[in-house]
Amino acid sequence: MTTLAETQPFLKRLFERLDFAPQPIGAETKHALEHWRTTRRGVAPSFADVVADLRHSGFAFRAVPEARDYEIVIGAKAVAPLLGAVAEGARLSEAPNRRGAVRLRRLFDEALRVGEPALVEFTLVEKGRDRAGVELLAAPLALADGALGAVLGAMNIQRFETPAPAREAPPRGDEQILLFALGSSRALGERVARELGLALSPHEERRFEDDERKVRPLVEVRDKDVYVVSSLEGEAGDSGADKLMRLLFFIGALRDAGAARVTAVSPYLCYARKDRRTKPLDPVATRYVAQLFEAIGADRIVTIDAHNIAAFENAFRIESLALDAQAVFARYFAHRLGAEPVAVVSPDLGGEKRAELFRQRLETIFARPVAKGFMDKHRSMGEITGEIFAGDVAGRAVVILDDLISSGGTMARAARACRAHGATRVLLAATHGLFTRDAEAALREAPIDEIVITDTVSTSETVAQRLRGRLVTLGVETLLAEAIARLHSGGSIDELLETGPKGAP
Ligand code: R5P
Repeated sequence: MTTLAETQPFLKRLFERLDFAPQPIGAETKHALEHWRTTRRGVAPSFADVVADLRHSGFAFRAVPEARDYEIVIGAKAVAPLLGAVAEGARLSEAPNRRGAVRLRRLFDEALRVGEPALVEFTLVEKGRDRAGVELLAAPLALADGALGAVLGAMNIQRFETPAPAREAPPRGDEQILLFALGSSRALGERVARELGLALSPHEERRFEDDERKVRPLVEVRDKDVYVVSSLEGEAGDSGADKLMRLLFFIGALRDAGAARVTAVSPYLCYARKDRRTKPLDPVATRYVAQLFEAIGADRIVTIDAHNIAAFENAFRIESLALDAQAVFARYFAHRLGAEPVAVVSPDLGGEKRAELFRQRLETIFARPVAKGFMDKHRSMGEITGEIFAGDVAGRAVVILDDLISSGGTMARAARACRAHGATRVLLAATHGLFTRDAEAALREAPIDEIVITDTVSTSETVAQRLRGRLVTLGVETLLAEAIARLHSGGSIDELLETGPKGAP
């Protein structure tokens, strides 16, 4: 029976075929499966029996659950085509080929979760038109205590060359890439361009007496793969709605001028918080914004830490990519927090999932338990209420994680609650530092040691001055540049989401 239908979509994308009733074709995978079946006792063979008799080309890994990792016990040479040069005793996370390591880890997790051998097929793109079909088997093994905690693997690689395209037209990904950045996103756009080894393409922005705008490219865009960086936060003299309009009209102009593809890169997306009806006859603004992008002819949209990922993905019928800054924050806090006990807190129940993923990520990095907590929150007519706090923060440095800081009220009250429950230090982590109204005052008065944001939106000089000494801004240019490079060349976005940008833990 194939359980492909029960498999999570990202695994389906990662492996062209994933089957738990494996019938391998290759010699190595066939041999390994036969060996697994003949040594099987109960649910799975014992690790010791299989490893003692592992011949030819198989390999075996033991799970390291506390690190969400696997350690290679035998067969480093056999698995090298997928992982690069690895030594026995090394962990998957240390393999030179991170993409191969991610594939193996997901497959091993799946085989141990299901308790059956799993066979997958996928295509490895090598140089130019050279490709290789990979057949990969993973079968669970039992440790001395009977628990499934190791995996037997084997693989076959068949190399083939993709036939040359019949027509002259450049295949997807071969068009030249052009990057524009509008308004106050210019500085971020320049950093992204530098990461990509490009220069920003020039454009003209004009504002007329009645405040209407005109934006046009100043280079030829016909048949180009175009990316437009424009964060959509409101700022003095330029509301989120103004910026949205400007971006939409620019996309329209690019389409009219014959661009092959246009991707809107809006690290902060406006109107994302109104993603459902909370009162009768309420609008669902997230969906209307999506319809505007679709109607004007955008091909894709990229954002970072969408307020509600499910709502964002459901709203768009064009390709929508929700990146997150978790790896960027994790890299910072891994150095910042050192050996002290840590807790991650969500300042409201809506952000609990985001905070939990971050907590797990920190736990993997620190290889020690990281506690959690969350706070009740209700907002009505701008007034925030809800006093219930749950969590183990006493004696710990607390990271309060949220997608954004607007008036600062949410973070300030969560910080007070953490301190009241015994937190030693309170550090805020929010992807988008909007700092509206008197946010700086609200945050200055609260017991907050540090406010860590990213540069998805530009911070005004006034805000930076008022929060001086406590504000840290992390860059998202590498994340955006890697996403753009992968979108342009057809690389794996799943892998980027899993591992974060270069250098992230
Ligand atoms: C709300 O659900 C968001 O995740 C943020 O918690 C909220 O928008 C922050 O707003 P403020 O800073 O005004 O409390």
